[in-house]
Amino acid sequence: MAKDFDHMEDSNRSANPTFDEVSDPARRQWLRGGAAALGALAAPGWLAGCVPVALAPRHAGGPGVPPSQGAAGAAGFRLGFSPVAMAAVDTVAVPAGYRAEVLLRWGDPVGIAGRMPAFRPDAANTAEDQALQAGMHHDGMAYFPLNGARRGLLAINHEYTDEGLLHPDGRAGWSPEKARKSMAAHGVSVIEVARGDDGWRVVRPSRYARRLTATTPMRLSGPAAGHPMMRTAADSTGRRVLGTFNNCANGQTPWGTYLTCEENWAGYFEGPAEPDAHQRRWGIAAGLGGWYRWHEADERFDARLHPNEPNRFGWVVEIDPADPASTPVKRTALGRAAHEGAATALTADGRAVVYMGEDARFEYIYKFVSRQRMRPGGAAANRELLDHGTLYVARFGADGRGQWLPLVHGQGPLTAAHGFADQGQVLIQSRQASDLLGATKMDRPEWTAVDPVTRTVYCTLTNNSARGRPGQPGPDAANPREANTMGQIIRWREDGDLDATTFTWDHLVLAGDPLAERPAARGNVHGDVFGSPDGLWVDPRGVLWVQTDASSSVMGQGDYARLPNNQMLACDPATGEFRRFLVGPRGCEVTGIAMAPDLRSLFVNIQHPGEPPNDESDPADPARHSSWPDGQGRPRSATVVITREDGGPIGS
Ligand code: FEO
Ligand code: CA
Ligand code: CA
Repeated sequence: MAKDFDHMEDSNRSANPTFDEVSDPARRQWLRGGAAALGALAAPGWLAGCVPVALAPRHAGGPGVPPSQGAAGAAGFRLGFSPVAMAAVDTVAVPAGYRAEVLLRWGDPVGIAGRMPAFRPDAANTAEDQALQAGMHHDGMAYFPLNGARRGLLAINHEYTDEGLLHPDGRAGWSPEKARKSMAAHGVSVIEVARGDDGWRVVRPSRYARRLTATTPMRLSGPAAGHPMMRTAADSTGRRVLGTFNNCANGQTPWGTYLTCEENWAGYFEGPAEPDAHQRRWGIAAGLGGWYRWHEADERFDARLHPNEPNRFGWVVEIDPADPASTPVKRTALGRAAHEGAATALTADGRAVVYMGEDARFEYIYKFVSRQRMRPGGAAANRELLDHGTLYVARFGADGRGQWLPLVHGQGPLTAAHGFADQGQVLIQSRQASDLLGATKMDRPEWTAVDPVTRTVYCTLTNNSARGRPGQPGPDAANPREANTMGQIIRWREDGDLDATTFTWDHLVLAGDPLAERPAARGNVHGDVFGSPDGLWVDPRGVLWVQTDASSSVMGQGDYARLPNNQMLACDPATGEFRRFLVGPRGCEVTGIAMAPDLRSLFVNIQHPGEPPNDESDPADPARHSSWPDGQGRPRSATVVITREDGGPIGS
């Protein structure tokens, strides 16, 4: 997201090992000197001979790779499109021979029968209308086939709102109705889409169409459900909760469900003047509720009155998109975080593995491994799969090796003597638990992705301008740049199957122009330059797709002038080349990615076109920076579908 909650992102100040404590001179030389120094390191196995920007060869077997998946893609893949030039455009620019069409904009009805209010360009739709229409600020997304590549469901996150666009007069004359409309513009949309002779369309009405908002009834499950820290005045069971919000990235399970992740949820609660240690660690603070003012319409958002209500957010929520009557479930076994995404894969014997980044400065990367195996029978047969298992947090060693540290009550320091009464508390206070375990404080972990063939796991570390500031952790091997405005993509291979507790890691790339004058902005990108990687996905061919969320407030004006719009790139796994596939409209973030199973239709979200640096549009002049996609009036976040004019696969 664009909004920069400084107080939350700086909340991790405890004293885990930093670069100087864990580093060694050879490693430092490699990080600064690049490929020349790497050969001198004892890089084991798959890293040997690799340079920082080159991918390991496509790996057709080996530890963790089921033989059935070992052959596809082993020969590598060549990008087959002409790169798009970077320009300050107010459109979606795609390569020659490709077409981008708008599918679902903020305010378009999702298609619930008999309840399809039209969008009003003056933003005069009511809260009730909004709860039937696509929310604002589309983010993570997944495609669920109903009829292969011709018909399916899209589940789409709506991360946050621009209150200046959401209401005819912005924040002026605030009312509870405005708060209700804001709550209704958050959450998730489920829509049915179909491809006909003239392209894709939203099926309206559809029996699958659904909106989930900040008030939709949901269930808490797993070890923290029912915990005393989860009980509130409105819910003495600690098992029922209303709504999900700040849904950033996502996951898609092999059993057919959608995972939506609650990211900057702390920004919706009004905190006390003197927060306690738990509240401080999670960024709950006085004045925070002033951005959305939900607490003035619904007192559960007032953490001074209801201190446990925030504990019921920050979870990964599982949704069955095929059953619009189903109750979404917050899976507490996966831990609490400012969750970015939840990339899901299976071990060779069928257990679920979920990789998750926590997007805040100096927070952590997590992995969950289920106790049981996935069963045949889809969502109905796997209702409790994500309720039992082990959560781990990552420690990246300076020697290119890493460890997964279990967040298990009773193990190591996670005991009553250190303030953890039980496993539920470990999960609710996963940041505090990870601090104690000595996990590595990362540069804002965003999306994770698993290559389905090589089983290499990737994570975007979008940026961290506070790295090395006085009182903050300095550079370390995994996060090697002070005042890091450009970000990096880290990758690892587990030692064996995906449930391994040790791994080998390196950087795929340090983002930024290799010719940049400012050292903090200098990267080693081979190909088209980018900064602040965020969205990330490896398609079935092994193509790595990267989406950016760079802003002038993070990059500084000089660097931003070179990359004025956000973009999406493809990385050729055989060469490590990044090639620019898409440039978004002015002021937008490019985020959310899904493909139809034939790889001939690519769905991408354009979030907050036209957003000014302070994150809030002027209701008197809402189209000042952009009027995409309508060409007039308010800019509208939207899902775009990209196809090739010759009908071929995307990117080849
Ligand atoms: Fe919502 Fe971390 O991006
Ligand atoms: Ca981001
Ligand atoms: Ca993001």
